[in-house]
Amino acid sequence: MRLILLGPPGAGKGTQAQRIVEKYGIPQLSTGDMLRAAVQAGTEVGKRAKAVMDAGKLVSDEIVNAIVSERIDQPDCENGFILDGFPRTLVQADATEEMLRAKGLDLSVVIELKVDDAELVRRVAGRYSCAQCGSVYHDTDKRPVQEGVCDKCGSTHFKRRPDDNPETMTARLQVYYKETSPLIGYYHAKGKLRSVDGMADMDHVTQEVEAILSKL
Ligand code: AP5
Ligand code: MG
Repeated sequence: MRLILLGPPGAGKGTQAQRIVEKYGIPQLSTGDMLRAAVQAGTEVGKRAKAVMDAGKLVSDEIVNAIVSERIDQPDCENGFILDGFPRTLVQADATEEMLRAKGLDLSVVIELKVDDAELVRRVAGRYSCAQCGSVYHDTDKRPVQEGVCDKCGSTHFKRRPDDNPETMTARLQVYYKETSPLIGYYHAKGKLRSVDGMADMDHVTQEVEAILSKL
């Protein structure tokens, strides 16, 4: 199963991707996570990406296309993968098609998570994650079972993303509507698009996503 999770910042791509990983055992390929790891590791790519990400703009197509192409060649992607936050420009979408064709792979489905802007801003403003394992929480919608302790790994250290501030979020939304939303029509025209009401609570969204995946 090879799927794309498409949606604006804060739509729940990462949240739903994690649940698909747990259920289907295929890896989550989040370009955002990969770029943040590169920034933290201080690699050449990370140095180039940091200022762009902090401004809510897009890292160059060449960089992300290369990162994803390499990642797909890893053995854990043999039975499929979830693309989270990639592709997000038409150039990246064409590159994805070419990449998969060259590797003899096909795309199963593109799942679009639809969420209103005000809710996106609210979600991103309340998001934090475990500094050790990356599990994602929300100030009101998803708190750890034991306050201050990560459900997954037991760490007591949490962090917030530098791009989760109101100014950068405004820029990220603008970039989404300009550069990424055209992909909705792109995949609709290819018969690959399925849309889900991402405004529902996390479990309902998961049910809708699973209903789509179970029919593949
Ligand atoms: P990236 O990391 O991909 O960020 P994004 O697309 O802005 O999306 P988010 O991760 O913010 O949101 P999400 O949809 O994963 O939501 P989540 O599940 O966490 O990209 C960051 C940056 O990297 C980009 O701006 C760009 O600079 C660069 N980049 C990345 N990919 C690139 C590419 N392909 N090309 C160029 N540049 C690229 O949920 C959000 C919050 O809401 C959480 O707190 C969660 O608990 C909560 N929540 C989730 N679902 C629900 C629900 N149903 N109800 C209530 N709360 C919910
Ligand atoms: Mg994410």
